[in-house]
Amino acid sequence: MNLDRLATLLTPEGAEALAAAMEVSERDPLAATSALRARAIAPELAATALTQAVLRRRAEAKFGADAPVMFFTRAGLEQATRAKVAARRAARLAASGTRTVADLGCGVGADAIAFARAGLRVLAVDADPLTAAVAAANVAALGLADRVSVTAMDAREVGLDGVDAVFCDPARRTTSGRRVFDPTAFSPPWDFVIGLTERVPRTVLKLAPGIDHALVPPGAEAQWVSVRGEVVEAAFWCGPLAEVPRRATLLRGDEVHELTGSGEELAPVGPVRRYLYDPDGAVVRAHLVAEFAATVDGTLADPTIAYVYADSPTPTPYGRCLEIVEVLPFSLKRLRSALRARGAGRITIAKRGSAVDVERLRRDLKPVGDAELTVVLTRVAGAPTALLCTPVGQWGR
Ligand SMILES: C[S@@+](CC[C@H](N)C(=O)[O-])C[C@H]1O[C@@H](n2cnc3c(N)ncnc32)[C@H](O)[C@@H]1O
Repeated sequence: MNLDRLATLLTPEGAEALAAAMEVSERDPLAATSALRARAIAPELAATALTQAVLRRRAEAKFGADAPVMFFTRAGLEQATRAKVAARRAARLAASGTRTVADLGCGVGADAIAFARAGLRVLAVDADPLTAAVAAANVAALGLADRVSVTAMDAREVGLDGVDAVFCDPARRTTSGRRVFDPTAFSPPWDFVIGLTERVPRTVLKLAPGIDHALVPPGAEAQWVSVRGEVVEAAFWCGPLAEVPRRATLLRGDEVHELTGSGEELAPVGPVRRYLYDPDGAVVRAHLVAEFAATVDGTLADPTIAYVYADSPTPTPYGRCLEIVEVLPFSLKRLRSALRARGAGRITIAKRGSAVDVERLRRDLKPVGDAELTVVLTRVAGAPTALLCTPVGQWGR
């Protein structure tokens, strides 16, 4: 897509082409293209509309019912915050008394839309003119243009006088789409991003889940968010927005579960016990394993590995629970014969603290039989260990 093509999509003729494309977008691309040609839609418009229709369908996972009226670039959709996550952030910002927010690097507008819906006025900017135009189209399509101004400009040029809060979700990809992990390669760059916390006390930064705890500004809250067990982002809540040092927020359907703490507690260490908990990634990333272990009266079997062991299964939303049926020192031969003895042909392999190549192990084990087992590869008091397990309940899923 480019600016001209977006402009065409926004005309009545473009809207008609897009509506037609959405009707046929589930067919294979050739059939869909000929269906649009049969309606005398010009080839270039047909191609643009079809791409957009496919992106809208893909966007439903993040944007739900809004997706069919929104506009996307491929990169913009990939980088966009899920609507549910953005809505929680926006509600928290609104509850803090914030009335105006600058969204620096707004992408296709997922966060800006959520801020507006939470009642905030939004000054949204994106350095990429097409992305900014897409955000503007989205804000208009969702009836929020009176609350959101979108400008194509470099975030570093934006004056921040008069905004109550600033939100920045820097791009963490190269122009070719490769992910970057080094904050100095973020765009806008890290020194600008972190400098925002000095300029506007109420700063919220959205970052990749792998962000280093050492980068959390002094006194800020670092939050990790998971959606159905997948860790989707970290967010730093700075200045007066910080409530606790560390927070794990788990979203599952309509349920929200939060665990908070210092991020510095160490869980007690003990032997392997009958039940094993695999904590949600947000809990692990937030360094809240000790806080979680306390909720299930659990211990670690290795101080550096985030598996928690307990004598009884406590229902918990913070991790999945497995019953350990056998503990083996790790060896391919022993594991294979243990699985054969149990007729376990359907195996799930999980690991923490093990360098074993899971796919290769699965091939080497050649499991046969109808029984289902989870094989957990880990270390116990430093020794490579395999735990044969069965799931307990559905909590934490
Ligand atoms: C991760 S995306 C933002 C996604 C957005 N929060 C959403 O949920 O839709 C980062 C955006 O920052 C923009 N960007 C990168 N460098 C920028 C800069 N110096 N000034 C303004 N925007 C910038 C990119 O074009 C990209 O759209």
